[in-house]
Amino acid sequence: MINRIGIIGGSGLYSITDGMDLEEKTVTTPYGDSVDLSLFRVDDKDVVFIPRHKSGHKIPPHMINYRSNIFALKELGVNQIIATNAVGSLRENISPDSLVLPDDFIDFTCRRDKTFFDNEVVHTDFTQPYCNRLRDIISKNGKLIKGGVHVCTEGPRFETGAEIKMFQILGGDIVGMTGLPEAVLAKEKMMCYSSLCVVTNYSTPLSEDRLTMEEVLEMMEVKKEEIIKIILNSIEDMPIDYDCDCLNRTM
Ligand code: HPA
Repeated sequence: MINRIGIIGGSGLYSITDGMDLEEKTVTTPYGDSVDLSLFRVDDKDVVFIPRHKSGHKIPPHMINYRSNIFALKELGVNQIIATNAVGSLRENISPDSLVLPDDFIDFTCRRDKTFFDNEVVHTDFTQPYCNRLRDIISKNGKLIKGGVHVCTEGPRFETGAEIKMFQILGGDIVGMTGLPEAVLAKEKMMCYSSLCVVTNYSTPLSEDRLTMEEVLEMMEVKKEEIIKIILNSIEDMPIDYDCDCLNRTM
């Protein structure tokens, strides 16, 4: 089996392969969906790209088939994933345009399929929710905030002021709608997974202005080139044969 590297592109990142030779593939999954992926090579490594919201950004965060996406990557031999997420900042010292590599999460999603283990008793260890090894590699390839607590909401609406205050009290640093259950499902499949969060805005009430998706996508456009460079350079630094705690699941 080829050990491939998977890239999941969030809002505003629908390809990282300008001018590269691509092979397009569709993987049918047991989760009621099929997934379109692009395969290509970077630095002699086999890479697979999925746009999380599907081509044309058609699927909102709460309707994404997270199980299908992770299943399809695993089917193609992916064992290391870098995923991008647009997020709002919950902290004054994390300004819009920052890049954050979270090291923990709080899951407020409520109507998503969150596990592959509906028919067997498996309790996956989550003391280290994201891959420390991948976070180290990515952090060396740009100006990134290493560590932070990612709060994930169900969406698709943005948060109220009271919710933001609650997330701050609970220790959240950034808030988004797509980080989970993706990180959980990747760990259940014993894959190394790191999220690269792009801070597009201050969350209310840190911001005086109304928040819009246009503002989020504008910041993603500003950061796109930098993010792609970080991802491509990180791929070069990612070993293909390696050992990592993520490759063993604790039951
Ligand atoms: N909240 C939730 N999701 C987001 C935000 C936000 O402020 N910014 C980008 N995605």
